[in-house]
Amino acid sequence: MPVPLHGGSTVTGINFDNAASTPPLARVRDMVNRFSDLYSSVHRGTGYKSRLSTEAYEDAREMVSGFLGVDEKSQVVIFVKGTTDALNRIAAEEARLDGRQVLVTEMEHHADLLPWRHRSGHVMVGLSRDGHIDLEAIEYALKNADGRISLVAVCGASNVTGFVSPIHEVAELAHRFGARVSVDAAQLAPHHRIEVRPAGDPGHLDFVSLSGHKMYAPYGAGVLVAPRDFFSGAPEVMGGGAIDIVTWDDTVWTDLPDREEAGSPNVIGAVALGVAIETMLELGFDAMLDDELTIGRRLLAGLSGISGVSVLGGVEPRDPGGRLALASFVVEGLHHGLVAAALSHEWGIAVRHGCFCANPYVFHLLHMSRDDVEAVEGEVTAGRRKALPGAVRASLAPYNTEAEVDRFLEAVRQIARGRIKSTYEQAADGTYAPSGGWPRIPSPLHAMVKREARA
Ligand SMILES: Cc1ncc(COP(=O)(O)O)c(C=O)c1O
Repeated sequence: MPVPLHGGSTVTGINFDNAASTPPLARVRDMVNRFSDLYSSVHRGTGYKSRLSTEAYEDAREMVSGFLGVDEKSQVVIFVKGTTDALNRIAAEEARLDGRQVLVTEMEHHADLLPWRHRSGHVMVGLSRDGHIDLEAIEYALKNADGRISLVAVCGASNVTGFVSPIHEVAELAHRFGARVSVDAAQLAPHHRIEVRPAGDPGHLDFVSLSGHKMYAPYGAGVLVAPRDFFSGAPEVMGGGAIDIVTWDDTVWTDLPDREEAGSPNVIGAVALGVAIETMLELGFDAMLDDELTIGRRLLAGLSGISGVSVLGGVEPRDPGGRLALASFVVEGLHHGLVAAALSHEWGIAVRHGCFCANPYVFHLLHMSRDDVEAVEGEVTAGRRKALPGAVRASLAPYNTEAEVDRFLEAVRQIARGRIKSTYEQAADGTYAPSGGWPRIPSPLHAMVKREARA
């Protein structure tokens, strides 16, 4: 897609922000277009379209279940809005368990940290210096908790370093100490085949959460896999479809999964996610991962060769499959926001910058002390958000190419040498924009609505 550049020219844009959201697969987009003509409300309608939509919705559930290897006797697949929604649902239930806590790692995205902190209570466990999961620290924390830990929450892969977590080893430890394990698979699911494994397997996964918009189905659906016996009493979200009967005084909740899917579900989103999963299975996760890792290694090797650039967590993966094709880095002497603005405005390259909704992990990777963090907290609390440190993240997907990686590396090389063509100004929130503002982007929505109105 052509994107406007500094100086008024345009260039074919590069999207290295796939960890945030991925574009739809062509087949998913086609399916959504076709299904839009067929779509209607699910479950309760007797009309043809309602029955067809119900079939498609339940097919999508089956696809998710088959993809993850869900043990349907003991587990349930619930369609939710996304990973954040899924993790908050678990935390809401966990909060009902008096005096029990959730063990989280320092690596977690805020979606896998704040719900525990503010609802159920948490214990946070440290990482190795270079930011890997520390199994010994998890074991130590579980041993010393005297059975108070009911859940261990861990990400399947980090959105900051791309490190892939040893989820089955973490699950074994959790189970050994009588806890369950919840995997935030937002970043893992688009890249690796996840196996929930049967309940009898010590390394099985009790909860898995994921988001469709990160796995080529950006239509607003996500998934929560949970043990059937986890949900008790009233659901967190209440409304139509979740009940068997409501009288003037009583409510009888219905069976799972409907009990946890109150309201009209996002049928199109669920169907899109099902098609995305089936398409990825057809393409083959191993083949996709091979392509991705080839360009990922090129990215890491290239960044490590640029003077003044440091990659968070280092560039050496512990094992070849142990890292996604993703790198967060800092450029000596340059604010992360400035680097990201220059990449966009002068090179047409989309990246993410900041702390990637994983403040504690980024502070850890930047080797900040508690005093450093307290000082930053003071500044931010006083409204000076510029003080927040951060990094720049490039996250790749199989559709990215070596040529794109090379252009990106050239851009970073030039920027690190101080060859920034435009001038930029920093806003109070810390972000940078070209002096005089970003070139105006006309909203495609307005253009479309006007065109429709004229037609
Ligand atoms: C590791 C991780 N967990 C959770 C989330 C939250 O996902 P969502 O915004 O789709 O709810 C993200 C999003 O970036 C993520 O990277």
